[in-house]
Amino acid sequence: MELKKVIDRVYWLLDKKRTLVTLSAYGDHSVYGEKIFKFNDKIYREWVPYRSKLAAAFYKGLNSVDIKDSYTVLYLGASSGTTVSHVSDIIGTMGQVYAVEIAEEMAVNLVILAKQRKNIFPIVGDARKPEIYLKSVPKCDVLYQDVAQRDQTDIFLKNADIFLKKGKIGIFAVKARSIDVTVDSRDIIRAEIQRLKDKFDVLATINLYPYQRDHSLVILRKK
Ligand SMILES: C[S@@+](CC[C@H](N)C(=O)[O-])C[C@H]1O[C@@H](n2cnc3c(N)ncnc32)[C@H](O)[C@@H]1O
Repeated sequence: MELKKVIDRVYWLLDKKRTLVTLSAYGDHSVYGEKIFKFNDKIYREWVPYRSKLAAAFYKGLNSVDIKDSYTVLYLGASSGTTVSHVSDIIGTMGQVYAVEIAEEMAVNLVILAKQRKNIFPIVGDARKPEIYLKSVPKCDVLYQDVAQRDQTDIFLKNADIFLKKGKIGIFAVKARSIDVTVDSRDIIRAEIQRLKDKFDVLATINLYPYQRDHSLVILRKK
């Protein structure tokens, strides 16, 4: 077995096949059934592309993104914390990920995860109303959004305006069908990206098929 670095704390584990892993910041606990590997006295967690859009983006060719040790991340649409747990590995014990989730049943597991991983700060609430977490969330180095809502671009712009530092990165999962089921997905994604261009440079747009259907991940830098 051999490890090839992708970004800080993210590696390809090269064996018979290529497996994306994160270097665990919090021990050998499996969060969502992912495999745990021990290699040279360190613990790595498999990062499953069918379960996480950011992992899928790496499998689809993303090879650099500005997210690293000690960063502060605002994550919108955290669900039970699958991707949040890998973000928590990447930013390490000195980083902070503020994880917003509207559905209480999903947030239950997120809150349990935050007890095990002290760099996760769960917020049960609506990302459409950033004013409710304005006082508890600092300015951030990364804004990650995966809410799959019709008004996802408005939510992203509103939160980026308040929380994202200038020159820093937005990672935006665009679900075409959340916006309009009657229009071609590529046209929807193009139109949504157009709306962001005033305030962001678009660094990459990655179609996540076959790992995630009907989704693209857009990497942006705030101007
Ligand atoms: C596709 S899932 C997210 C999966 C998660 N990002 C992951 O990779 O582990 C979308 C989540 O966004 C949440 N959501 C939808 N609208 C929201 C809103 N307005 N504010 C906060 N969360 C929202 C949903 O409840 C759902 O859990």
